[in-house]
Amino acid sequence: MSHINLITIDGPSGSGKGTVCHILAKKLNWNLLDSGALYRILAFAALQEKISLDDQEKLAKLALNLQVSFKSNGTGVDTLLAGENVGDKLRTESVGQAASQIASLQAVREALLARQKAFRQLPGLIADGRDMGTVVFPDAPVKIFLDASAEERALRRFNQLQDKGFDVSVAQILSEIKERDYRDRNRVVAPLRPADDALVIDSTSLTIDEVVNKVLELAAKKLT
Ligand code: DC
Repeated sequence: MSHINLITIDGPSGSGKGTVCHILAKKLNWNLLDSGALYRILAFAALQEKISLDDQEKLAKLALNLQVSFKSNGTGVDTLLAGENVGDKLRTESVGQAASQIASLQAVREALLARQKAFRQLPGLIADGRDMGTVVFPDAPVKIFLDASAEERALRRFNQLQDKGFDVSVAQILSEIKERDYRDRNRVVAPLRPADDALVIDSTSLTIDEVVNKVLELAAKKLT
């Protein structure tokens, strides 16, 4: 059991965990693991290299050799693939769906495991994902499962995309969210579910600050 502080936050897309994790990492001055970015970057590299999204062997090899790094840029984090900042290209719906698809493959998950564990460095780690508390860091002292209704999550995503000038419909986003949820929650390997010892927070009618405070309250009780 590692004694390096750790808070895992798992949940479906749109639950607010990305924002909450960034705020917590900044407030506590801890490291941040955005594990979804690893699955997205692998999917992006596979699409670029025209590797079939069900070819476990090639995808696992690609995962082991991926040259990924994350660099703070003042306001957020740049994601670099072989030195090129690909952050914006990872957030598209097609990369998200491809990431969800390859994330159901056992060999891919195993290939990314050591890379994720290596993020647990002093003074502490905020780990954001789907299986942080169940598979990657089962000994984490603080585990959160952040959820929200699919309708609320679709609305949040709609507002984000509209702000960026995209012409999208809530109905289409809702159906994409439900499709991805279904795949993430029902896959055989490391399905999205709360760890038995996780605190489940429903963020449907909470502000980001309220969620952050709930996590900090639990952390204050559990961490020495
Ligand atoms: O959090 P995100 O939307 O960036 O994640 C993209 C996809 O990656 C998501 O649909 C499921 C997968 N994923 C996963 O299976 N396990 C993780 N720990 C993180 C993401």
